[in-house]
Amino acid sequence: MFDNDFHPAWLPDTALRTVGSRRLALAADAAGAPPADAAVLATLETELGRATTAHGGAVVGPDDSPDLLLRLTASSAPGFRLVRHDGRVTVTAASPTALLHGYFHVVRLSVAALDAPSTDESHAPASALRMLDHWDNVDVHPVMGQVERGYAGGSVFYDAGRVRTDLSRVTAYARLLAAVGIDRVSINNVNVHAREARLLTDDLPEVARIAAALRPYGVRTHLSVSFAAPTTLGGLPTSDPLDPAVRDWWRAAADKVWTAIPDFGGFVVKADSEGQPGPFAHGRDHADGANMLAAAVAPHEGLIHWRAFVYNHTQDWRDRSTDRARAAHDHFAPLDGRFADNVIVQVKHGPMDFQVREPVSPVLSAMPGTRVALELQVTQEYTGQQRHAVYLGPAWSEVLRWQPWDSSTVRDGGTPVTVADVASGRGPGRRAGGFAAVANVGDDRFWTGHPLAQANLYAYGRLTWDPTLEPTAVLDEWVSLTFPDAPAELRAAIHAILDASWQTYELYTAPLGVGFMVRPGHHYGPDVDGYEYTPWGTYHFADRDGIGVDRTRATGTGYTGQYAAPWRDVYESPTTCPDELLLFFHHVPYGHVLHSGKSVVQHVYDTHFEGVERVARMVERWDEVAHLVPDDVAHRVRDRLAEQLRSAVEWRDQITTYFWRKSGVPDSNGRRIY
Ligand code: GCU
Repeated sequence: MFDNDFHPAWLPDTALRTVGSRRLALAADAAGAPPADAAVLATLETELGRATTAHGGAVVGPDDSPDLLLRLTASSAPGFRLVRHDGRVTVTAASPTALLHGYFHVVRLSVAALDAPSTDESHAPASALRMLDHWDNVDVHPVMGQVERGYAGGSVFYDAGRVRTDLSRVTAYARLLAAVGIDRVSINNVNVHAREARLLTDDLPEVARIAAALRPYGVRTHLSVSFAAPTTLGGLPTSDPLDPAVRDWWRAAADKVWTAIPDFGGFVVKADSEGQPGPFAHGRDHADGANMLAAAVAPHEGLIHWRAFVYNHTQDWRDRSTDRARAAHDHFAPLDGRFADNVIVQVKHGPMDFQVREPVSPVLSAMPGTRVALELQVTQEYTGQQRHAVYLGPAWSEVLRWQPWDSSTVRDGGTPVTVADVASGRGPGRRAGGFAAVANVGDDRFWTGHPLAQANLYAYGRLTWDPTLEPTAVLDEWVSLTFPDAPAELRAAIHAILDASWQTYELYTAPLGVGFMVRPGHHYGPDVDGYEYTPWGTYHFADRDGIGVDRTRATGTGYTGQYAAPWRDVYESPTTCPDELLLFFHHVPYGHVLHSGKSVVQHVYDTHFEGVERVARMVERWDEVAHLVPDDVAHRVRDRLAEQLRSAVEWRDQITTYFWRKSGVPDSNGRRIY
């Protein structure tokens, strides 16, 4: 059972007080609406009642001069329209879910929505697809625990090997998601173990219960499925995607899913990746595999999110020809144009694996004939595991705004195409694939372990709704909602702690884009050579003379050639490669001078000392304002910051020592290095 005393995150009752003190009305006829729409309309009624009961307003009829009228209209426009006239606000939308998003927009803006001058605005998300992927296991996995790469306790969906009896917290979660515009959730780990595979078949009634808990807030359910399911669940001799019996099996399986859950979204597939089964075993390619599943779900307008995270995880570190960074492009770019319309190829933002600094994946711009989704990681696997305060909004914003081509590749309106445009279907090519991200919540009281990590989930929703938003402004929204009476000093301190926290984390961890200097397995804390001689890849090639991976066309793995101009040339030369990615693209001597004027080794020393100093200041800033937040938040953040400081010192000492021992170059500032 849940302890229902969980933290309200960005929807405390006080966040509703302005709206709740007004006269609110809903104009929508639930009669005859499909059940999913009727469920959301009922939620809207409940929300209006809840806000007004708590804050002295009233729910009135649409003709009783409401201050805020929510009206369902017939229109084909996505999103919602907000008209403010003569002191009255009318929000209209074509679907109940969009109307709910419009309601939460008014909640978020509060007085600025209700009491501002007349306006007529349309608000639509950049892409219709904004999804969260939960890497939750039904059973506790012996190595990975219940939530793979989860840092906030157990799953909100499962407990003790089954779907929870009490799913009220799942509905509370859906409410938080609706308030930031997220409307799709995949509810199980992409690594589909035997127990989880059965969600597709025997456990369908249980999945239907989860879908029912998410539905009232307009959130649709997706499942991760195993490509080998026809064999492992269906007892067929093969899972070959071109085998008619296999195709029939999937068709029948999909039919049953949609019978149980008519508004089901679709399947997520990790195939031929890190040990998961896939089409390669049958001599087929990924288009064959994805299209077979796409045909099975097409009658139900279902989607296949097919992940491009495919690489060889059984490499020989002596083999210099294998480059993990190249893998996704090598596998997928040649398949462009072959994927069915309801297949979305889901691409991690970088070519490796959610490191604190990577170049943007070249796959995102290499498949104009394919619906491509950008995959982000809200859970902080490689960014401090929710023990470190790291606000990822700025990192994602950088990816979203990145321009894969030169400025002559423009979208409507003449602005250069960005990654956000590609994912939103505004780049060269086809329809939108949208956005997906690995979720960061669990059954922890604060949802995210670190209370400040809530801001990442909030920012994921807001930035995928509108990728042009400034991450600091998004953080400000989160502070205003989460701490409704935040005095200026609390707001300033949270900004001081979080605004540049991603850069701070980068300063004290792996330098200059090199990545993966983490402890193997759990990926927390420093281990410079931890992965260097393992089958998973080789990441830095440090020796006594230099460090970094030569990925040039001239002398290296040729990875730079996967980019369009100008990046293929910018990255090819160490003189034009941005400092922060130098070691990702080049192997250089320790004395190589960066654009900053410092040598690589001195940069490493300086950044690591600075990183620790910055964390020490984060600790001090929190101590100054902790009395302004509830005690439980104050203590949890204080504990986590203490661990962050300990860990940052450990990172600093190991990284600086490693570079000193390898290079023999002393710190020009004479600081103590071991
Ligand atoms: C990372 C992560 C795995 C996960 C994988 C994925 O490698 O460490 O736990 O399964 O990403 O994205 O599939």
